[in-house]
Amino acid sequence: MKKIVIAIDGFSSCGKSTMAKDLAREVGYIYVDTGAMYRAVTLFAMRNDVFDAEGNIDETRLKALLPDVKLTFQLNNETKLPEVCLNGENVERYIRTLEVSQHVSPIAALPFVREKLVEQQQAMGNEKGIVMDGRDIGTVVFPNAELKIFVTASAEIRAQRRFKELETKGMPADFDEILQNVEQRDYIDTHRETSPLRQADDALVLDNSHLTITEQKAWLMEKFNERTQE
Ligand code: DC
Repeated sequence: MKKIVIAIDGFSSCGKSTMAKDLAREVGYIYVDTGAMYRAVTLFAMRNDVFDAEGNIDETRLKALLPDVKLTFQLNNETKLPEVCLNGENVERYIRTLEVSQHVSPIAALPFVREKLVEQQQAMGNEKGIVMDGRDIGTVVFPNAELKIFVTASAEIRAQRRFKELETKGMPADFDEILQNVEQRDYIDTHRETSPLRQADDALVLDNSHLTITEQKAWLMEKFNERTQE
């Protein structure tokens, strides 16, 4: 069976990561969460006074510091999933907070940040056998990916999922604030100048608003089997 590149793009909190992780585990592929990479750079920026009190970015400062940012992945022994490390420190538990979520879109809109991360992502996919999720995977990172999926769900349903996720992790959350954050990120992600979130012409659309995880998985496996046997 031939090895392929699977590109999964879509709006924030639409279950892309869960779906991509699951698929990677099922078919024995490497999983890369590119959102985690943008989040790690955001955490770095927050820790290094790149933002002022109003949330404005000091681009000159970030540009100067960026060459020192090294992102690597470390396999979690329990989950068997890669976790992102910032200059050797596993930062997985710091990058999912609402504070990072509120700062990440403007960082991900900076062309010099995207250039660095895209280059690293392309190198990771050299050998194929990879499932990568993000916003520009099928359009920019791997325009020739053999299987491209564009995932979507309503903003309310996505906010509800994010709310539950934070609740289970014991992190206090406010639904309206989360919904506002989801809508705001959708807007910035789809309207930014560099690599805006958009569906690749040859992507298959999956609206999972009313699909169960099992139904979604069955759909994905069918597409995977089709593409690897072609
Ligand atoms: O998937 P996520 O919510 O963890 O992504 C965090 C942010 O990073 C989101 O605002 C969009 C951005 N992002 C991006 O611009 N390009 C990617 N390939 C992945 C994420």
